[in-house]
Amino acid sequence: MFKVAVIGSTGYAGAELVRIVSAHPQAELTMITSRQYAGQPFSDVYPAMAGIVNLTCQSFSAEAVSEAADVVFTALPHKTSMEVVPGLVARGKKVVDLSADFRFKDPAVYEAWYEPHEAKDLLKTAVYGLPEIYFDDIQNASLVGNPGCYPTSVLLPLLPIIKATFVDPDSIIADSKSGASGAGRSVSLASHYCEVNEGLKAYNVAKHRHNPEMDEVLSLFCGRTIRTTFTPHLVPMTRGMLTTIYVELTEDVSIQDVASLLDSFYADKPFVRICSPGRFPNTLHVKGTNYCDIGFQVATGTKRLVLISAIDNLVKGASGQAVQNMNIMLGLPETAGLDQLPFLL
Ligand SMILES: NC(=O)c1ccc[n+]([C@@H]2O[C@H](COP(=O)([O-])OP(=O)(O)OC[C@H]3O[C@@H](n4cnc5c(N)ncnc54)[C@H](OP(=O)(O)O)[C@@H]3O)[C@@H](O)[C@H]2O)c1
Repeated sequence: MFKVAVIGSTGYAGAELVRIVSAHPQAELTMITSRQYAGQPFSDVYPAMAGIVNLTCQSFSAEAVSEAADVVFTALPHKTSMEVVPGLVARGKKVVDLSADFRFKDPAVYEAWYEPHEAKDLLKTAVYGLPEIYFDDIQNASLVGNPGCYPTSVLLPLLPIIKATFVDPDSIIADSKSGASGAGRSVSLASHYCEVNEGLKAYNVAKHRHNPEMDEVLSLFCGRTIRTTFTPHLVPMTRGMLTTIYVELTEDVSIQDVASLLDSFYADKPFVRICSPGRFPNTLHVKGTNYCDIGFQVATGTKRLVLISAIDNLVKGASGQAVQNMNIMLGLPETAGLDQLPFLL
């Protein structure tokens, strides 16, 4: 059994890690931390885990965490992660960080969108944790920067087709809708029930921090600069993310061509399900699971390809993907602990 710690265990992503790791057949949760709830049983904070998780939240100490665990998940806000992660990596721990702090290759891009980076050296060795693309690099990584939820939902449908000769990579428009848990557990006016319920709004239009993240990955993957137009929306549901992407086609392409390309790209990838032509993803079908469902359509008469993805923002968009990365780093089956069946409705 590998010993696992979750730092920031009472936030939404951290708590989801606690849920998944608790049922993992080859991992044992040995340490959970929180500032606000230090000294309190986890099951007092999340009563759903009564009788399942018997750990008490601890204050963070790099020494204590390193003694207790082989692998550490840091589910902290950006900036806080870069203060915590170097001490864990220096102690030889394998770390999967869920914040944005170790996702970027170019520190200047990070600093333009976030703040000054205090652990730039680690960016050279940190691996972007999108397993469907970077599996080999993740196997050898000691630090993985787990992707953002929006980039995961945009990159998985787009990467298989972006290098094809029949698409115009300068024409990408992505439009995402996220459930309110994407904003985290701390209280804010923007995620207040009355501000979210029965409403639907765009926010950070064409200036969301996940836009440069997806653009950097797309550009590195294609070997040329790519700039997407990305608009996120907040929808009145707790979990789930649906993304619609529009790309111009430079030649006539049939829906069967797109189906073959996606099917062959993801043939041996356990968590990506390609919908048959004419069927489209639904956030309900992936809720609580690590699946990303992808549908597509060629808009007749317009030479435009439409790609649609659905993920659970807390699972494939955060903690499930983080466990998938841990599995790969440890040489475990990629699907270990991630075999939750979807609800039917
Ligand atoms: N929610 C999502 O769907 C999602 C998806 C992908 C990635 N992420 C990323 O995952 C990370 C956690 O997100 P979240 O949604 O779980 O946020 P959250 O619900 O606000 O939780 C943040 C956690 O970090 C701890 N924390 C906050 N400030 C801290 C500080 N200054 N020092 C130490 N600990 C601090 C909090 O607990 P205490 O205050 O008790 O210590 C809490 O456990 C973020 O970087 C986020 O961008 C989230």
